[in-house]
Amino acid sequence: MAPLTASLFSLYLLALLGQSANALHVTNSSSSSAAVHWLGVKPSLNLGATFGLPWPRGAYFPNDTTFLVSDSSGQSIDLQSWATGYWPDGSLKWTGHAIPASDSVPQGYTVKAVPSSRSSTRSNSALRRRKTSGVTVTESAQHIKVDTGKISVSFPKSGNAVIDEIKTAAGKKVGKNGRLVLQSQDAVSATSDVRGEISINYFNFQSRISNVSVSDLTSVRTLVTVKGQHSPSDGSSHGDWLPFVLRFYLYANSSAIRLVHSLVFDGNATSDFITGVGVRLDVPLEGEEQYNRHVRISGVNGGFFNEAVQGITGLRRDPGSAVRTAQVAGEKLPDISTWATTVSSRMRWIPTWNDYSLSQLSSDGFTLRKRTKAGQSWLNIPGGTRSEGLAYLGGATVGGLAVGLRDFWKRYPTGLDITNAASDTGSITLWLYSPLAQPLDLHPYHDGLGQEDYADQLDALEITYEDYEPGFDTPYGIARTSEISLFAFEKTPPGETLSSLVKHLNNPPVLVATPEHIRDSKALGTYWDLPNNSTQAASTIEHHLDFFAKFYQGQVEQRRWYGFLDYGDFMHTYDVDRHMWRYDIGGYAWDNSELSPDLFFWLYFLRTGREDVYRFAEALTRHTGEVDVYHIGKWKGLGTRHGVQHWSDSAKQARISQPQYRKYFYYLSGGDERVGELLEELLDTDKTYGVLDPNRKVRTDGWTPSPGSTVAIGLGTDWSALAAGWLIDWERRTPRWNESRTKLINTMAGIANLTNGFVTGSGLYNLTSWTLGPPPADPANRGNVSVSHLSAVFGLVEVVSELIEWFGDEELPKGFKSAWLDYCYYFGAPKAEQAARYGVNFGTLNLYQGHSRLTAYAGRERNNKTIEYRAWKEFYGTDGLKESAPWNATRVGGSKVLIPVDEASWLATNDVAQYGLAAIENLAFAGDELASYP
Ligand SMILES: *[C@@H]1O[C@H](CO)[C@@H](O)[C@H](O)[C@H]1NC(C)=O
Ligand SMILES: *[C@@H]1O[C@H](CO)[C@@H](O)[C@H](O)[C@H]1NC(C)=O
Ligand SMILES: *[C@@H]1O[C@H](CO)[C@@H](O)[C@H](O)[C@H]1NC(C)=O
Ligand SMILES: *[C@@H]1O[C@H](CO)[C@@H](O)[C@H](O)[C@H]1NC(C)=O
Ligand SMILES: *[C@@H]1O[C@H](CO)[C@@H](O)[C@H](O)[C@H]1NC(C)=O
Ligand SMILES: *[C@@H]1O[C@H](CO)[C@@H](O)[C@H](O)[C@H]1NC(C)=O
Repeated sequence: MAPLTASLFSLYLLALLGQSANALHVTNSSSSSAAVHWLGVKPSLNLGATFGLPWPRGAYFPNDTTFLVSDSSGQSIDLQSWATGYWPDGSLKWTGHAIPASDSVPQGYTVKAVPSSRSSTRSNSALRRRKTSGVTVTESAQHIKVDTGKISVSFPKSGNAVIDEIKTAAGKKVGKNGRLVLQSQDAVSATSDVRGEISINYFNFQSRISNVSVSDLTSVRTLVTVKGQHSPSDGSSHGDWLPFVLRFYLYANSSAIRLVHSLVFDGNATSDFITGVGVRLDVPLEGEEQYNRHVRISGVNGGFFNEAVQGITGLRRDPGSAVRTAQVAGEKLPDISTWATTVSSRMRWIPTWNDYSLSQLSSDGFTLRKRTKAGQSWLNIPGGTRSEGLAYLGGATVGGLAVGLRDFWKRYPTGLDITNAASDTGSITLWLYSPLAQPLDLHPYHDGLGQEDYADQLDALEITYEDYEPGFDTPYGIARTSEISLFAFEKTPPGETLSSLVKHLNNPPVLVATPEHIRDSKALGTYWDLPNNSTQAASTIEHHLDFFAKFYQGQVEQRRWYGFLDYGDFMHTYDVDRHMWRYDIGGYAWDNSELSPDLFFWLYFLRTGREDVYRFAEALTRHTGEVDVYHIGKWKGLGTRHGVQHWSDSAKQARISQPQYRKYFYYLSGGDERVGELLEELLDTDKTYGVLDPNRKVRTDGWTPSPGSTVAIGLGTDWSALAAGWLIDWERRTPRWNESRTKLINTMAGIANLTNGFVTGSGLYNLTSWTLGPPPADPANRGNVSVSHLSAVFGLVEVVSELIEWFGDEELPKGFKSAWLDYCYYFGAPKAEQAARYGVNFGTLNLYQGHSRLTAYAGRERNNKTIEYRAWKEFYGTDGLKESAPWNATRVGGSKVLIPVDEASWLATNDVAQYGLAAIENLAFAGDELASYP
């Protein structure tokens, strides 16, 4: 790779890649194409979409490639393209693409990579066309204004409002003064039966902008990024807090705005209790008759609460059926002079309903109520089970606005408020955390139980499996990201339109390449392959994997693994006696990516292309990358080990924040900018080893960390997470990629240089020179032997496999591959062979089933069938899940359980993750040898 700086490089790309183009048929053999299809059934709406595409090494260079797209009917459309990842030679590995909204939805699209020379004559017309049909962005000192052709939105660059106004194509202002709202209090009552026994101070906040920027590429898709904090709106002395990043995505020809909303908790868990977090927009209603104003609130399965602010149905006197029909349909009523005068003369006696409020305080039910105005009683409206999370306010002539939250009921306690609907300016508030719920209490769940030192903590670990340490059970620095949509309307839309928007909101259409295309590009590794039903044994494995996918999806629902912070995760181990997952037992509760279920579910998606698996893995990624990881503070970059609260365990480690877990979604999504930000946050994880020793409680060599010096890191769980982050960074060519490249190459060379390679177990990493030497226990590098069952099960296998592909035999640091193949071969080898090679054997370890994929990898790389066969022996005949297990779930009902549930007491999530990964990778590395087993 030529030493081009990243910024130069992206400028170059901008000039050469970011073009859209129209009709061009390239049938030349030097061009190549990739088909993308909609995940699952074809959606009914295309409001614009972004997707990622992988390309084989060396095929396309950013300086001489243009991308064109046609839909399945052969029609060329506008395309915005950018690079999200590169191969080491500078060729494109991953591209992101955006297509505009369209009135009809094709089955799919074909993206062509065309040498620029061939398309250069076309650029002019492409540019001309872009001006008329794309997104227009105008920037002034105060505002960024984006016009999609359907709506124009103005984003202030400072102040409290994050959106100034939203206007329709006809010029109607349907939304204004969009801002974030937050409420908190400084204490929570310890009991609920006495009111007022403690004094509580209450606080109100709104957004305060610190920075606004607009993406470089804007023709088809524009991204406006707004950063800031929540700032007191009530003059209180509470400081600004809860930093946010809002990413507004706008597509050409679309009247929707997609908002990815991220918050970081930087409060004090014992004195900052969030009681409500929301997004509020005002809706201008001036001039609209009360009876022409409409409220629509999502219920269940596309259902809606449909009312007018002043209803003219059900009255004692009938205004006429044309009037009633129009109001129910949300249309402008016939002129009031045409109504029956028995009604029109008495309009002032019919109340107007100012406020509406839907509360989804559990995943099982919502309540809905309304009132005529503040100070008057609320009226209950029948509620329902699971609201799909969209609220509309507007009028038949002035237009309106809808606001919705994806996974609304799954992220309870949520809410939708409409206020002041009878005034000149109504408002919609989407509550990501409902003010009607109990405060968000992030206190530790126990008081330390009297544990006084490491000895106590280690002894407690023996019984609850919780690794506790005072002060470590802190939520300071965790984050949460929510996906919100705003839709603008010229007039109140028909119910079916809103229903289809609700579907879009909750199942945002995803464009994806085929599993074959992704596999053949090798851009997400060569350690997985398509489902293999060639033998009975392989087909049985496929059924087992399918069982896992369906079982975990079912458990999320039956066990109600929902909630503002929890949704997306699942639990670690089952309690057979109680028929419950061990939600309350130390290290057995929330899984926090233990043993890489994230990798299993993503690989399972890659090979099957299944929509259900994608949605499941996506929710997992959105959870584990945010809630289980620290984003600020001294532990920034580390994640928290499995536990009762996502942050309660004192093991803060890189293995949990492992960037590899985010990689699949990042590239497939076309470079989701929030996940990209998370990946960049992890670039300083190595520095945390200078302040926190992951092995502090068990270290016997006397080593202690100090910032900026040399630090002890494990060559398994620690290095695999650091290496994954460095490789991704090098692929992405972020501004720091040269540093990442150096760290990666240096540490790989350092491992290769150790007498026993990966078997050494750990090394001393110099935080200044980024080099790696022998561990504290063996400064002379005589040959340390320290093998742990955990080292290879947090992404090491997958990361090293990608590294070996990435460098190729020529460029790979000398000795690295054989160091890795030795580790792979010897982990499961007979003790005598281990002793012959290393002087001592590795003792009795576990997770041999999961490690069978290391054996299979060694077999493939050494082209040795005997070793491949051994992999299957380990897969079937060691530990982990047995073929003789039931491989099904049993229903438990009656008085034994709260609600009827399915249980599979023969498995734990560790087994699922490692069996799943071993199955997928063994089939890819040693599939042929399965035929000869046993
Ligand atoms: C594009 O970049 C590649 C790799 O840097 C180089 O080999 C090639 O000559 C360049 N092509 C053009 C047209 O500049
Ligand atoms: C959090 O607040 C409590 C109570 O006000 C206080 O004692 C404690 O020092 C604070 N902790 C931090 C880290 O600021
Ligand atoms: C292989 O088996 C899986 C699971 O049983 C099934 O979904 C898939 O369609 C099969 N594939 C082929 C190519 O037969
Ligand atoms: C390899 O080890 C030798 C001697 O122990 C040392 O001089 C050299 O710098 C090491 N190289 C790397 C890349 O760590
Ligand atoms: C780390 O590397 C720096 C720069 O090469 C060197 O000055 C320093 O002595 C090294 N630290 C240790 C403890 O080896
Ligand atoms: C394959 O590996 C086995 C086990 O290490 C070894 O005994 C055998 O010699 C190898 N075969 C070849 C052809 O290298």
